[in-house]
Amino acid sequence: MANKEEKPEGKESSWKDFIYNPRTGEFLGRTASSWALIFLFYVVFYGFLAGMFSLTMWVMLQTLDDYTPRYRDRVANPGLMIRPSDLDIKINLSNPQQYSSYVQDLERFLLDYNDILQEQNVQCPEGKYFLQDNEEEKKVCQFMRSQLRQCSGLADTTFGFSEGQPCVLIKMNRVIGLMPRGQPYVNCTAKRETPLQMQYFPTEGHIDKMYFPYYGKKAHAKYVQPLVAVKLQLNEQDYNIPLTIECKVEGTDLRNNDERDKFLGRITFRVKVTK
Ligand SMILES: *[C@@H]1O[C@H](CO)[C@@H](O)[C@H](O)[C@H]1NC(C)=O
Ligand SMILES: *[C@@H]1O[C@H](CO)[C@@H](O)[C@H](O)[C@H]1NC(C)=O
Repeated sequence: MANKEEKPEGKESSWKDFIYNPRTGEFLGRTASSWALIFLFYVVFYGFLAGMFSLTMWVMLQTLDDYTPRYRDRVANPGLMIRPSDLDIKINLSNPQQYSSYVQDLERFLLDYNDILQEQNVQCPEGKYFLQDNEEEKKVCQFMRSQLRQCSGLADTTFGFSEGQPCVLIKMNRVIGLMPRGQPYVNCTAKRETPLQMQYFPTEGHIDKMYFPYYGKKAHAKYVQPLVAVKLQLNEQDYNIPLTIECKVEGTDLRNNDERDKFLGRITFRVKVTK
């Protein structure tokens, strides 16, 4: 109160004083050395936090291996997937536009299997695991697209879709280190009374052991999964009825009848062809 009477413009000048007080040399109520100390404190404090963070991160990363994931199932079982990636395939034969998306999907997927690319890979001995534990850069066994014959999309560019006998590609998910025993093959069955004729490529749905084991994305960058193509030999009587088809990997120790996981070693999809 008294202050105010002495200095009529008191409020303004105390505000100015607060920002910079020429008498004491204070800036925002603190001297330069006080500010410097505060600044120094925070630099040290945050520097310490950042250091702690980096150190723990570094220690953790040291325990990881670039080549194999750290956490894995006991003995991982692969799931099956199909291409085209649609579990409910509908084909309208009088409308090529309608099924062209399936054809494009297959075409895109098979680009990695083009013979010209695969020729750069190794022709591995058949029926044996291709072990290369000691090599730094793992080689890849070739899987030529042309092995899929009528389902390769080479001679028949619509993969049988235009004639109502579509090809479906079956692939097994990659599992690092997996070495299936026995002689794995894919067996598909239509869930109905009369069996449905199907044609497999490679013959008998055979999956060669040479494609195992897989060494992981980093070591085995160009790895291609083996494929099995199944051509559904439908005829006119099969049109307009949704068909349920189940494919399983058999002849091996891989699980294919897990009650909880419908994709473990097997896959079920539907196909309906209309005219
Ligand atoms: C199939 O396509 C034709 C021509 O586009 C169309 O007239 C017909 O209704 C379609 N059929 C079905 C079942 O969608
Ligand atoms: C394929 O599976 C069906 C049904 O499970 C079975 O009857 C048939 O014998 C199997 N075929 C082969 C070659 O294993």
